[in-house]
Amino acid sequence: MRSYSLLLVAAASAVASAQSLPTTGCTSNSFAIPSWLIEDLEYTAAGKTSFHITNRATNYTADLTCSPGSSGWNACAIQGKPWSNDTLQVSVQISETSAQVMVNQTWTCNDRNGTKLMPFTAVGNDSVALKSDGHAVNSPWLIKGSLLSPVTITPKYAWGPTGHDKPGCAATPNASWILSAPFYMYQTGDGVTAIASQDFNVLLTNAATGYQASCMSGAGFGDGLTPTPASGPLNLVCAGSEFQSSGGGKYSITTAASFDPSTFRFTVNQTWYCDDLSPASPVQVTASASESLPLTCTSASVGTDGAFTDTKTTCINPSDVTLAAQLLLQSALVPYSIEDPVPGPDGCTLSSIFHPQWTFSAFEVDSTGTNASSTSFEIILRTGSPGFQFPISISQDTTALAGDGSWYSCIIGPSGDIGQPLWPTSCSFKYQATTQELSLRAEWSCSELDPDHPIIFSGITTTTVNSPLACETVEGVSQCVTADGAYSWTANISNVTWHQTP
Ligand SMILES: *[C@@H]1O[C@H](CO)[C@@H](O)[C@H](O)[C@H]1NC(C)=O
Ligand SMILES: *[C@@H]1O[C@H](CO)[C@@H](O)[C@H](O)[C@H]1NC(C)=O
Ligand SMILES: *[C@@H]1O[C@H](CO)[C@@H](O)[C@H](O)[C@H]1NC(C)=O
Ligand SMILES: *[C@@H]1O[C@H](CO)[C@@H](O)[C@H](O)[C@H]1NC(C)=O
Ligand SMILES: *[C@@H]1O[C@H](CO)[C@@H](O)[C@H](O)[C@H]1NC(C)=O
Ligand SMILES: *[C@@H]1O[C@H](CO)[C@@H](O)[C@H](O)[C@H]1NC(C)=O
Ligand SMILES: *[C@@H]1O[C@H](CO)[C@@H](O)[C@H](O)[C@H]1NC(C)=O
Ligand SMILES: *[C@@H]1O[C@H](CO)[C@@H](O)[C@H](O)[C@H]1NC(C)=O
Ligand SMILES: *[C@@H]1O[C@H](CO)[C@@H](O)[C@H](O)[C@H]1NC(C)=O
Ligand SMILES: *[C@@H]1O[C@H](CO)[C@@H](O)[C@H](O)[C@H]1NC(C)=O
Repeated sequence: MRSYSLLLVAAASAVASAQSLPTTGCTSNSFAIPSWLIEDLEYTAAGKTSFHITNRATNYTADLTCSPGSSGWNACAIQGKPWSNDTLQVSVQISETSAQVMVNQTWTCNDRNGTKLMPFTAVGNDSVALKSDGHAVNSPWLIKGSLLSPVTITPKYAWGPTGHDKPGCAATPNASWILSAPFYMYQTGDGVTAIASQDFNVLLTNAATGYQASCMSGAGFGDGLTPTPASGPLNLVCAGSEFQSSGGGKYSITTAASFDPSTFRFTVNQTWYCDDLSPASPVQVTASASESLPLTCTSASVGTDGAFTDTKTTCINPSDVTLAAQLLLQSALVPYSIEDPVPGPDGCTLSSIFHPQWTFSAFEVDSTGTNASSTSFEIILRTGSPGFQFPISISQDTTALAGDGSWYSCIIGPSGDIGQPLWPTSCSFKYQATTQELSLRAEWSCSELDPDHPIIFSGITTTTVNSPLACETVEGVSQCVTADGAYSWTANISNVTWHQTP
């Protein structure tokens, strides 16, 4: 269990350092959460439907009234104006027990480039149950949308923190933790041949959510520097599944715990998130517990070469220990926020649309006596969130493409696929040795926003290898590489276009 926990902690710090601050704003939100909140939806006896709508990407709001209709779809008007005059088009269809609402809205964002407005079109369509008084069961009620423009995507929503929708998650009077197999060990050490050490670990399970965290002694606990047994509580490091992958959303469960070796008192303080009652009214719960653990200790002399100078004491409780939780704080969160995807730094799609660039490295030109030369380099799309992705090698196909004879197809190197590739899916290039000018036509694909609808991009790059080349001849082959072996450079991609297969 211990090495498992260490691995999780290591992964957690790597993820944290690889990410920069998330960006928000109209453009990022439009790609991440094209969706609408419907409030105070009411169907009156006279057959009119009225409600308040908020576009969650832009904060645009309107009050709508939909004409009394017979059966089928009925158009809604914004404050008396017919929808045909507006970029927001809404229709409703009422059945005895539910209302179906269809939204189609076009808007623009200018937060990426003050001189260029990026237009978005999104559509959504969902239904809500009506109470007998004609009001919607959920208020606010969320209609998730799909973008139609500038790209066709249906955003992935997050799965949220463990157990957030488990019935009873927010039933705090009954909250408790189960401690499995608490274990404490300390060894005295003689200060000469053996150092003092101590170790504590336990698996902590939140009974309300099922969330598990492994808590263990961290740095400063088992390093022999602290007195053994130390006086006062020692902080533990607690880690759970939240660090294993991204996509969990904006909230992650946090656990703080300590163990006092002199009293065996274990203290835990955890914050978790619930929307089991309704995703429209999520809550954040912080609770704590503190209790002395019923550990039973056994001591034995240990040592090497017949010199038993150390005493090792092991304290365990073989069965589970249940700690009743005391509620410290319960507060409301923004409606539907638990499963909202978090707009992060620009990934493959937004980088390709707003600031398309390749980063080149490992540039090399090989030639033999017969004048045939072969160019190769490494390449990766520049994004705000490369994660653990690395550049891919590109080398030159043997025969020139038809045309002026200076363009060659790319041979795209072996891919070690981890996550979004950020590499060309196909390309061709030409290299002019005299000017050191490299031209590239490439296609690449982005699917991180919607794996079911990949976007195929293409674009052109013309750049100069702005570094002297150093050559040496190895077995009759002249190999020229950039004088600085680590030289890499970034170049704009122009004439970017994209398409999607329907
Ligand atoms: C919408 O309003 C929220 C809350 O006031 C704010 O945090 C967010 O930045 C706004 N979004 C836009 C696109 O203005
Ligand atoms: C629709 O918009 C046009 C132009 O703004 C205006 O002349 C017209 O009166 C509007 N129609 C209605 C029914 O409001
Ligand atoms: C949404 O509205 C736009 C503009 O009026 C229209 O071109 C498009 O066909 C509509 N899409 C849907 C799915 O209703
Ligand atoms: C902003 O958009 C204009 C027009 O498309 C473009 O010429 C300019 O390079 C853009 N600026 C930035 C910083 O992206
Ligand atoms: C609305 O959504 C339902 C499924 O939720 C789908 O069957 C229906 O075709 C959609 N209607 C329109 C007009 O898009
Ligand atoms: C707490 O648990 C008891 C017994 O299982 C149950 O009767 C009660 O409804 C629970 N309380 C809450 C708030 O869920
Ligand atoms: C528990 O954590 C909360 C939030 O981090 C903090 O405000 C509170 O002081 C902590 N309580 C204890 C007993 O550690
Ligand atoms: C090809 O190589 C020959 C001899 O190695 C040389 O004389 C000739 O100039 C080369 N041609 C070009 C185009 O580099
Ligand atoms: C690359 O594009 C950016 C933004 O569009 C522009 O500001 C910059 O001048 C371009 N760089 C080159 C070398 O063309
Ligand atoms: C890139 O686009 C510009 C303007 O649309 C055009 O003049 C140019 O020929 C294009 N370049 C290539 C290589 O297609």
